[in-house]
Amino acid sequence: MRAELQALQAEAMEALARAQTSGELAEWRTRFLGRRGALTRLMRRVGQVPPEERPVVGRFANEVKQALEAAYRERAEAIRRAEVEEMLQRDAVDVTLPGRPPSVGRWHPSTQTLREIEHIFAELGFQVYRARDVELDEFNFQLLNIPPGHPARDMQDTFYVTTTPQDGQEEGHQVLLRTHTSPGQIHAMREFAAVDPDNPPPVRIILPGMCYRHEQITPRSEIQFHQVEGLAVGRHITMADLKGTVEYFVRRMFGAERRLRFRASHFPFTEPSAEVDMDCLLCRGEGCRICKQTGWLEIMGCGMVHPVVLRNGGYDPQHYTGFAFGMGPERITMLKYGIEDIRYFWQNDLRFLEQFG
Ligand code: PHE
Repeated sequence: MRAELQALQAEAMEALARAQTSGELAEWRTRFLGRRGALTRLMRRVGQVPPEERPVVGRFANEVKQALEAAYRERAEAIRRAEVEEMLQRDAVDVTLPGRPPSVGRWHPSTQTLREIEHIFAELGFQVYRARDVELDEFNFQLLNIPPGHPARDMQDTFYVTTTPQDGQEEGHQVLLRTHTSPGQIHAMREFAAVDPDNPPPVRIILPGMCYRHEQITPRSEIQFHQVEGLAVGRHITMADLKGTVEYFVRRMFGAERRLRFRASHFPFTEPSAEVDMDCLLCRGEGCRICKQTGWLEIMGCGMVHPVVLRNGGYDPQHYTGFAFGMGPERITMLKYGIEDIRYFWQNDLRFLEQFG
């Protein structure tokens, strides 16, 4: 019996040394120490040993069992460590490798400028009002005091959605892509006036949006571009309000030290009309390449809303006056950053776009 136990111990120790993985180790345990394992079976036979030898053999069997259990724990710990070590090697990360920067999205420069303009006017109490890109000739021209055949139409070469005027088809019913955001003035005034036609509420809105002109694409002109229209209509609005509003806006947008010049101009839908210049950002009025040696940069058109336009919008020009202005965010962005070619805006070239924001 004793010899059998010794042989079993030797065999078990040898097998244990060969176990390399936790799987093999579990098998070893079942084989030798399990409920039906070799040692358990052998120990059951201790009862058959003659009584006088039994305590000695019993004690010896227990010693073998404890020795095997201790050896097992030691081996298990060694295998666990080896396996962790191997896993760390396999999944090793080289923390010294350069990282891969995630590509971060950003607003298009025109959108950034639009947001900035909207933000400044929002603080002055102007609501953002959106009007349609596809218009009738009636709204884009006629209701703005530009009748068919008016020479002002030549300034805004038009994309017609319907084909060229056909015999008998009135010019005024043509569908077109708006050439400016000014038709939104009529839509907005009519919507506001509809609230109370006898006593229409005051209007204070800006109308941002895309405009389209059938032009040669050059560094200075694109066939599509944004405009931001402004419109204020009320009972006592004067040219001083227009000037104050524009001046405040320009100084917020371009710097408190900006100087402004209102130059008399003509638009059929405003009277009087003006164009607004500010002193050149680059040379501060000295004369340079950006301002073409004049010292001034033209930034918007404006004026007092023409009585005909007020009436077309549902506001009685006897009791109401208003001012309007229109500017191009692309042009403003170009002036601000010294961009020399408007075609960059819609080319989707990341080398350009990534410079903003
Ligand atoms: N609609 C004019 C343009 O496109 C700009 C403008 C708007 C002028 C409002 C005066 C008042 O050139």
